[in-house]
Amino acid sequence: MRKQIVAGNWKMNTTVPEGVELAKAVVAKAAAVPANVGLIVATPATHLTSVAAVLDSRVELSAENCADHTSGAYTGEVSAAMVKSTGAKWTILGHSERRQYYGETDEKLVEKTKLALAEGLGVILCVGENLEQREAGKHFDVCEAQIKNVLYNFSAEDMKNIVVAYEPVWAIGTGKTATSEQAEEIHAHIRKVLAAKFGQTVADDTTILYGGSCKPSNAKELFAQKDIDGGLIGGAALKADDFIQIALSF
Ligand code: 13P
Repeated sequence: MRKQIVAGNWKMNTTVPEGVELAKAVVAKAAAVPANVGLIVATPATHLTSVAAVLDSRVELSAENCADHTSGAYTGEVSAAMVKSTGAKWTILGHSERRQYYGETDEKLVEKTKLALAEGLGVILCVGENLEQREAGKHFDVCEAQIKNVLYNFSAEDMKNIVVAYEPVWAIGTGKTATSEQAEEIHAHIRKVLAAKFGQTVADDTTILYGGSCKPSNAKELFAQKDIDGGLIGGAALKADDFIQIALSF
């Protein structure tokens, strides 16, 4: 049976001391969340070591990105091994903000995913269409292509360490959430695309998160959908109370 997960993506928010306080607040409230719901916080690279020091085993740590090279002359980049050495268990890859502003291509994501998995990191791979693509009715095709271009390069075994996050770009930070029907139909489609390559069992065991203006007021309806296994939370993850309330919405 696949795992339910609520992951917070802090993006480029909080200083290190603020991030440590936020992490402590999440840990303090995490006991209220049923054990079958995984909790993850994804922090800026600068915060990983300090946040790792205040997390317990209940709340896992993630990076927001890692490099497409192992080491060397790549100024400003952070490798999967560096992320792993902080105590992080996960990295987000392919967030739409990385794709949109930093030229992250599916080809680069294949490399990044390979390196992250080789280091023993779990990968939260983000996919999702933008507004123009949705309005043109291309949302199924866009998500399908992103999944195929990246994940079809991996094995069923690798899929045990990969979580997919569907984040429609038009819903991120806009306050405009996908309806539970809109989200569910894409999640179901993603699962079908995974089943076509890896078989139904692997597809059924893969956690698929929804992200995009997910908050305490709408999480319950989203998480009630058959193929929505939790959330990747941006803005609402910056408040421990809201983050935990979302995690209590299954
Ligand atoms: P918001 O929850 O702020 O819309 O962000 C979603 C997101 O991008 C999480 O990765």
